[in-house]
Amino acid sequence: MIARRGARKRNRLGGSGCLLLVEPNEYGTFMPMSQHIPILAHEVVAALQPEAPDTSRLIDGTVGGGGHSLALLEAGVEAVLACDRDASAIEAARRRLAAFGDSVSFFHGNYVDMRGAATGLGWRTVDAILLDLGLSSDQIDDPTRGFSFRFDAPLDMRFDRDATTDTADDLVNGLAADQLADLFFRYGEERHSRRVASAIARQRPIRSATRLAQVVADALPAQAKRRSRLHPATKVFQALRIAVNNELAAVERVIPIAIDLLRPGGRLAVITFHSLEDRLVKQAFKRHSTNLASPPGMASIEERRASVKFVNRKPISPEPGETSVNPRSRSAKLRVVERL
Ligand SMILES: C[S@@+](CC[C@H](N)C(=O)[O-])C[C@H]1O[C@@H](n2cnc3c(N)ncnc32)[C@H](O)[C@@H]1O
Repeated sequence: MIARRGARKRNRLGGSGCLLLVEPNEYGTFMPMSQHIPILAHEVVAALQPEAPDTSRLIDGTVGGGGHSLALLEAGVEAVLACDRDASAIEAARRRLAAFGDSVSFFHGNYVDMRGAATGLGWRTVDAILLDLGLSSDQIDDPTRGFSFRFDAPLDMRFDRDATTDTADDLVNGLAADQLADLFFRYGEERHSRRVASAIARQRPIRSATRLAQVVADALPAQAKRRSRLHPATKVFQALRIAVNNELAAVERVIPIAIDLLRPGGRLAVITFHSLEDRLVKQAFKRHSTNLASPPGMASIEERRASVKFVNRKPISPEPGETSVNPRSRSAKLRVVERL
């Protein structure tokens, strides 16, 4: 559903990275409890060129708390379509972007459906699209969502709590041990996936995030725990979250949809946080930037002209200054392509 709000007004809305309350979390040291800090914000603004005269319409496919949208609106973007699967994120972004009134429209839904939402606004093409993948610190720090092993929350982990799809509880307590092991290996790259899955299967039902974290930590060999800076359950939690939200399939589907929506010269920027999603984005960008022609004299199976070119060949990573303030940004990579 698309909703427009209030009268349009331009002003400066507080810093996008204000730190109010801090407490230790799974990213290592200390993180703000109050607001998600937009990652690589300067680099995203530079890449999407909001100051260019013809950059007026932007889709923020993952608006979260609205930090990137705010930075882009402040830098000159005229109109934003802000999407998110999480209704609480949409509400947070509404509050944060309220001063921009009618310039911001909201779509509570999956970014794979961005074309329909854009058409609803009368937009056939757009000038820029941003996808900041994964989950926000607001979601991790919400003690009711089950994303974090710090809270004794039910194992939910759905981005969209209105959806009737499986929760993490359904997977943890419903899948066979070998299916769980495959899931932890595939989506969490957990080397001890079989051992962890057997321990879970033996101790079911497991109903809370803290209990699951304990079972996983107890199952891992001491050496594996000593070697890692992360909480021992990090990979299992990542795997469950990716599976619950079908995240990798969404990433694969959205890239051609987003490219197709861009006007010539328009740009798509994607921020990833782990190698699984980064690999998908890299491969998709490569595919769409390559001409596919049949060898001379051979019948063509499929011919395709490149639809984008790379803006940066190598992904952009955060500067040390950013990673020290925001440890979550450590693994971020920004890739950008331009529509031909
Ligand atoms: C890293 S956060 C975005 C933070 C945002 N850029 C900011 O500055 O506050 C990722 C957001 O994407 C949303 N999300 C993840 N997958 C999605 C999908 N397939 N469609 C729409 N939103 C999605 C999550 O609910 C989360 O709010």
